[in-house]
Amino acid sequence: MNAIADDLFQAARAARLHAHAPYSGFKVGAAIRSESGRIHAGCNVENAAYPQGQCAEATAIGLLIASGDRKIIELVVVGGEAGSGVMCTPCGGCRQRIREFAAGPGTPIHVFDAGTFRQSFTLGQLLPFSFGPDNLGF
Ligand code: THU
Repeated sequence: MNAIADDLFQAARAARLHAHAPYSGFKVGAAIRSESGRIHAGCNVENAAYPQGQCAEATAIGLLIASGDRKIIELVVVGGEAGSGVMCTPCGGCRQRIREFAAGPGTPIHVFDAGTFRQSFTLGQLLPFSFGPDNLGF
C-alpha cells in the first residue's frame, strides 16, 4: 500500500494494464484528480505509424476534458516494471499538456513504477519558466 495518492496509483496501475504498447513494450498509466474530486485514468496508445502514438498523460487529459472538468489537482504516472529502477517522468510534450490544465506550479506529480512510489515533483520543478495560457492573456 502506497500512502501517497494511493487511489490515483491504483487507477493508473489498472489503466496501464490496458496500454497498447506493442512497439516499445513500455506500458504507462496516468491518473488525474480533478477539481470535482473525480479520477481520470488513461494509458499510452501506440500506433504502427509511430509518431501517431499517444502518451498515457495525454489520454488522461482527454478524459478529464471530456468529463467536463478542467483542472489537474494531482497527477500520478506509473511506468516501468516493478523493481526495474526506471523512473517514468512525463515527457517534455506532456509537461506542456499538463501545464495547460494544472491548478498551478505547485501541482504535485507523483512518479511510480508498476509496484512502488519513486518520487514526487511539482509541475514547476518539471517545467520551470513555462509558457502557458496567462502568456496569452487567458
Ligand atoms: N510514455 C508515456 O505514455 N508517458 C510518459 O510519461 C513517457 C513515455 C509512452 C510513450 C510510448 O508509448 C512509450 O511510453 C515509450 O516511450
